[in-house]
Amino acid sequence: SISYSRHMKVYDFYVKENNYTRICEQKSMLTVNGQFPGPTITAQKGEVFIVNVYNQGNKPITIHWHGVDQPRNPWHDGPEFITQCPINPGANFTYTVVLSEEEGTLWWHAHTEFDRASVHGAIIIHPKHGTDYPFKKPHKDIPIILGEWWKANVSHILEEALRTGSGINISDATTINGQPGDLFPCSEENTFKVSVKSGKTYLLRIINAGLTNDLFFGVAEHLLTIVGTEGRYLKPFTVENIMISPGQTMDALLQADRSSNSSYYMASRTFASRTNLVYNNSTATAILEYMDAPPIARSEPYFPNLPASDNITAATEYTSQLRSLASKDHPVDVPTHVDEHMLITLATNILPCQSCENGNRLAASLNNVSFDNPQTDILDAYYYSITGVFEKDFPKKPPFFFNFTNDSYSKEFRLTKAGTKVKVLNYSSVVEVVFQDTAMSNETHPMHLHGFAFYVVGMGVGNFDKTKDPSKYNLVDPPYQNTVTVPKLGWTAMRFRATNPGVWFMHCHFDRHTVWGMSTMFIVKEGNTPESRMRPRPSNMPKC
Ligand code: C2O
Ligand code: CU
Repeated sequence: SISYSRHMKVYDFYVKENNYTRICEQKSMLTVNGQFPGPTITAQKGEVFIVNVYNQGNKPITIHWHGVDQPRNPWHDGPEFITQCPINPGANFTYTVVLSEEEGTLWWHAHTEFDRASVHGAIIIHPKHGTDYPFKKPHKDIPIILGEWWKANVSHILEEALRTGSGINISDATTINGQPGDLFPCSEENTFKVSVKSGKTYLLRIINAGLTNDLFFGVAEHLLTIVGTEGRYLKPFTVENIMISPGQTMDALLQADRSSNSSYYMASRTFASRTNLVYNNSTATAILEYMDAPPIARSEPYFPNLPASDNITAATEYTSQLRSLASKDHPVDVPTHVDEHMLITLATNILPCQSCENGNRLAASLNNVSFDNPQTDILDAYYYSITGVFEKDFPKKPPFFFNFTNDSYSKEFRLTKAGTKVKVLNYSSVVEVVFQDTAMSNETHPMHLHGFAFYVVGMGVGNFDKTKDPSKYNLVDPPYQNTVTVPKLGWTAMRFRATNPGVWFMHCHFDRHTVWGMSTMFIVKEGNTPESRMRPRPSNMPKC
């Protein structure tokens, strides 16, 4: 049983179609409680909260608590066909969300098809009563939720892409708290504005809820001091702008210390690591307004310096500055001994498709396995020992070794195989995963793991060298993340200790890659103590 704290909050989420107008066009889309972005959940470290989800929409959905480890509670993690069957229209399901070590900013989102485009919101986790931030308490939290807007219905875009086997149409706008801002037609009036007072410090809780793009973000004339990422504190560092990948969150302190004008733009635009493909190259804006500003000196807000969309150096330089706080109150515990080494190649591929125009379709893979969604969820199949749903042989290394980051790979490597393969781990074993991008994908990938945070111990360009690269690992203060950006034609190494029994999805957080199969999962076996066993299966799990 779950021990409920005195402060336990209960939220009701009504998921429903509503009409929204952006960039001069109206469409209907799914949102929670008629809000876009959806409601913010605030909690204290270690709390448990309850969310009743009522599906009043027209398609099956689930909700995932991104970055919440959910110790022993895979039942309420949310990814469809991985830990549960989706909630059908007209049905409801109650999630118990168990916070443990997380403190900072996380978020929740739909985990069915492309529904998270409009079904998402922030989770703000404050320090426990009686404990402090590792910096001066900010005056206020300002959630900054970056998103992507399509004029068309995203479900139709997905259906069309899967039917033809071709790419996903690019988004028509980036949004800041649901609004594209006044560089877009018909958008000026609703540009997101936030008021600040001179002399105060604000905590921007920045979330990239977008489906397909890494983003740069900055605020004119204001530096950002980054103090946390994905629900963990960092050693503070100060920058003019950030790069944030889908799934990631960044906590940034902003000091309201300007007096030359009353308003300043915040802006966000795509970081495109693969510029030979068409991408959304527009810029979203919002406005920071001083309540107590002197009479307006300029009629126009200042505009921030953002790197050009193809500025890979700016993106990697930003990412390389992330370091865990590693203090007495917020220590690190980086495993130094590894039980399971995995090298996982990331690729976009083709698969034969009879019904598609040119006889094949786009796909994506991990170690050349393109994940095939099962008809019933993996967690139940594992729990009830149902055979034929998944196979336990997800490979710990790629099937062929070649120069992964060289363009002249043999064309046969483009082909992949579909399969529902999982990796089984012993309880408490230490896993090291090296994600290796390949020339077959040739772009960044935000790789996300459910159920755990992991230490990002190394990162580099080119092919991972298992004899030389580990000696350069950071085992002292690596960032502790749940979503890491694997650099284009490069690699990233991460470690975690498998102390959370259950079934935990791992996938690229670019949704076009997820739906093409760039995913797998870990089944973490139970240990011998009560604390190392899964909670009992809730009796009201939705049925497939
Ligand atoms: Cu943010 Cu599998 O999810
Ligand atoms: Cu990807």
